[in-house]
Amino acid sequence: MSRYVVTGGAGFIGSALVRALLAEGSGEVVVVDNFATGRPENLHGLNGRIEIHRADVRCYQEIEPLLRRADVVFHLAAIPSVPRSIEDPVPSHETNIDGTFHVLRAAAAGGVRRVVYAASSSAYGGSEALPKRETMPPEPKSPYAVQKLTGEYYAAVFASCFGLETVSLRYFNVYGPRQDPSSPYSGVISIFMRCLLERRPPTIFGDGEQSRDFTFVEDVVDITLRAARAPGVSGRMYNAGAGGRHTLNAVWRTLQQIEGIALPAVYGPPRPGDVRHSQADITAAARDLGYSPRFSLEEGLRRTLEWYRSNRRPS
Ligand code: UD1
Repeated sequence: MSRYVVTGGAGFIGSALVRALLAEGSGEVVVVDNFATGRPENLHGLNGRIEIHRADVRCYQEIEPLLRRADVVFHLAAIPSVPRSIEDPVPSHETNIDGTFHVLRAAAAGGVRRVVYAASSSAYGGSEALPKRETMPPEPKSPYAVQKLTGEYYAAVFASCFGLETVSLRYFNVYGPRQDPSSPYSGVISIFMRCLLERRPPTIFGDGEQSRDFTFVEDVVDITLRAARAPGVSGRMYNAGAGGRHTLNAVWRTLQQIEGIALPAVYGPPRPGDVRHSQADITAAARDLGYSPRFSLEEGLRRTLEWYRSNRRPS
């Protein structure tokens, strides 16, 4: 029986990964989360099928015993958001850099076979060339991007210096069910969903012509599981995107069409630290991990919208 540990397992992506691991039925699943941004309700219905530990990756002593002898550690615990890392850089620095170091150190000490690390497309930052290839030099534009990139470097060095298998995945703007729309730092699609269902116009920062490779959470879960198992990839980093590119204006237009309403967006000033365009080249992930995204943006948006419609909480 394999033992899988998911740090950040009560988060939006982590809880989707936990469900996929349970659906496979190939091992025990352990959630490590401090419930700062993760939420117990994301694990609703899984009681008795998973181990849940409230622990903080910033504290080595707390996490070291939990990671011991795991087959795979999926390290998804993080404080996300580019603007949050600018407004309040200390917590995200401590969680995203120190926490990642502690997870890698505990995994190496505890005989873990492989760590899959959730890196970020923000590492490409200001560079203009599209689509983004793994071989392009990083140009981080925010503390968040620096933090996530530092984690990647640490993951690679733990593979080369400490004999720990690691794989980093640069997630590209993930969206889907259970993404929390309630904070100003929430992912834009979750905010759009809430606005749509409440018939309020969203605020788009800048002209709305910035673009993102919005990636449905089920595709991200799929590549994450592949990264845990693929042979010969330790120490490497891969883009984990859908491979497309959509402007915010186009996404909001599509959502209005799906819902059959007209609700023009409001426009505000551009957001500091914002990247203009982002799109993944997924050739390497297809070649080495056998990854092929299954969800078009429209299909992913429809599924996500249905989830928010059925699970809406009062704002
Ligand atoms: C960045 C990373 C992403 C990472 C995420 C973690 C890039 C290209 N992507 O996402 O991989 O997972 O951080 O937090 O760096 N916006 C609005 N109105 C809103 C909210 C956002 O217009 O109410 C705009 C933002 O200015 C931005 C876009 O929507 O242009 C996407 O923002 P967001 O969802 O916060 O993600 P990124 O910062 O792109």
